Parts: sequence; structure tokens; C-alpha cells
Amino acid sequence: MAPAPYVVPIVDSTAIFKDDIFKGKVLFCTGGGSGICRGMTEAMMRHGANAVILGRKFDRLTQTAKELSQATGRECLPVQVDVREPATLKEAVAKTIAKFGRIDYVICGAAGNFLVPIQNMSENAFKTVMEIDTIGSFNTVKATLAHVRASKGAYIHVSATLHYSGTPFQAHVSAAKAGVDALSAVLAVEEGPNGVRSNVIAPGPIANTEGMDRLSPKGDEYKLPGYPAGRMGVVGDIANATVFLFSDAAAYITGQVLPVDGGSMHLQGSL
Ligand code: HXC
Repeated sequence: MAPAPYVVPIVDSTAIFKDDIFKGKVLFCTGGGSGICRGMTEAMMRHGANAVILGRKFDRLTQTAKELSQATGRECLPVQVDVREPATLKEAVAKTIAKFGRIDYVICGAAGNFLVPIQNMSENAFKTVMEIDTIGSFNTVKATLAHVRASKGAYIHVSATLHYSGTPFQAHVSAAKAGVDALSAVLAVEEGPNGVRSNVIAPGPIANTEGMDRLSPKGDEYKLPGYPAGRMGVVGDIANATVFLFSDAAAYITGQVLPVDGGSMHLQGSL
């Protein structure tokens, strides 16, 4: 008998948390136009926050902002930036303050990825991902920090689990995400006395996201070794971790990396 088709489960996003825990707060999220960061933003808005989503594709951002506002009843401002260009982030922060007057939470999520072995990777390909992921995160922190200090807010950096071992064809992303993890740790230590927290979420294989589709074309996930948690991750899993880490329930958690991967990083040969 043929095995039953694999169905990615829907995890009800963040319903376990109170509705209004982020009421009056403002989220600033790079990469929020799609994928995991869109899900993180939606979760924060469902719990009361207004949001600014940032990225290079303005049309997509505008559409996403409309959909998120309709779904949550909160305001969402789309702003075009290239995180490699500090001036665009500074301008985006000015627009955020003009509209909402504050920034409480920042998600550094903008990232680039593609599969290529070191032998074939151009210097510019490596540099491009370092610039988007690592330098882009630094630029985002620089542009927002004064406001996050003022609100005694918090950062979440979206990293990965693939650099905790040697993942083939991912030299650029592995180096870049290791830098992101380090940046967050230093930010936590330097800014803790100012009331600012900084943590990393390291997603494992998350179904129906651009990153996963690029690394493992649809269908190939069936061929990966069994998942310790019995299933792939879904965006709702990352959203739940986001709400927890930004909430007061995590007030004493800073400088940490939280893998949200169902235990996959401990499985030999996994993503
Ligand atoms: C080899 C490639 C390539 C590919 C680009 N390059 N794509 N090399 N294979 N598939 C090279 C180009 O040839 C060029 O080098 C250099 O990279 C820059 O490419 P550009 O297209 O000029 O840059 P840009 O327009 O700035 O785009 C950057 C980008 C981006 C990184 C390619 O468009 C991108 O990847 N977007 C995808 C977003 C994404 O995947 N987000 C999810 C991330 S998930 P040369 O030498 O030719 O000039 C994630 C976590 C993964 O990060 C963990 C999952 C488990």
C-alpha cells in the first residue's frame, strides 16, 4: 500500500497568548514582505502591535501591508529599503517615527540565499549575502537603536541552524548567520543595562517559505530524514517563538539563540 501523502500541518498561530499584549507598541521588521518575517509580523499585529515592514520590493510590501491590516485590524506601513544602504534605513526610521512616534521591537530578517559550492561561488556572491544578512542586520540595529533604547524594547535576529555544522553549498549564508548570532550577543551585553534585549531565532526547515523552496525544491522535503518532532516546521511555529521572546514572559532572556527546528539540528544529515 502506498504511504499516505505528507501533509504540512497548520499550527494555529499564537492563539495561546493574550490578544492585546503588544497594544500601543510598534514593530519594525526587515524582510516582512514575505515568508517567515511576514508571519512574525502578523503574529505581533494580532496581539496589538502596529508594524512597519521593509524590503526591496515595494509592490509586494504594499500588498502584504494591506493584507496584514485587513487580517488583524492594526496599521501596517510598507517602506522600501535596501538593508545594504544605511541611508534608506535611516529614512525608514524617520517615516516610522513620523507615523507611529516610537519603535519597540525590531526584527532583523532580510536575507538572501541560494545553493552553490565554494568552488563555483563568485567573490561577489559571497559578499552579497554577507552584506544583506550580516551588514544589513548591523545597519538595521544602528538605525533603530536610539528608539529601541527609548522604549526599552527588544531585537530578534532571524538566523538559521545550518551553520552549527558544515552545510554544503551554504558557505556564504553560514558565515553570514554566524556573524548575525555574534552581533546579537554583543548587542545584548552592551545594551542590557539600557533595558534593551536581543535574541536570535534560528528556524529549521520551515514549510512553504522561499528559503526552504530554494534549498529543497518542493517535494524533496519528503526525502529528508525523519523529523525528530514528527513533522516539518511551519511559519506559526516561528510566530509563537516571536511572541514569546518579545513578551514580558521573556524579560530575563537576552543574548540567546533559540533554535525552532523540532530538534532537526541534532539529526545527522539534516538541514
Ligand atoms: C550562484 C548567484 C546566484 C545563484 C546570485 N548569485 N544568485 N550565484 N547561484 N543562484 C550571484 C550573482 O551571480 C552575483 O555574483 C551575486 O550573487 C549577486 O547577485 P545579484 O542578483 O546581482 O544580487 P542582488 O540582486 O542584490 O540579489 C541578491 C540575492 C537575492 C541574494 C541573489 O536576490 C536573493 O537571494 N533573494 C532571495 C531571498 C531569499 O531567499 N530569502 C530567504 C532567505 S532564507 P556575480 O559574481 O555574478 O556578480 C535564509 C535561511 C535559510 O537565508 C535557512 C533555511 C533552512
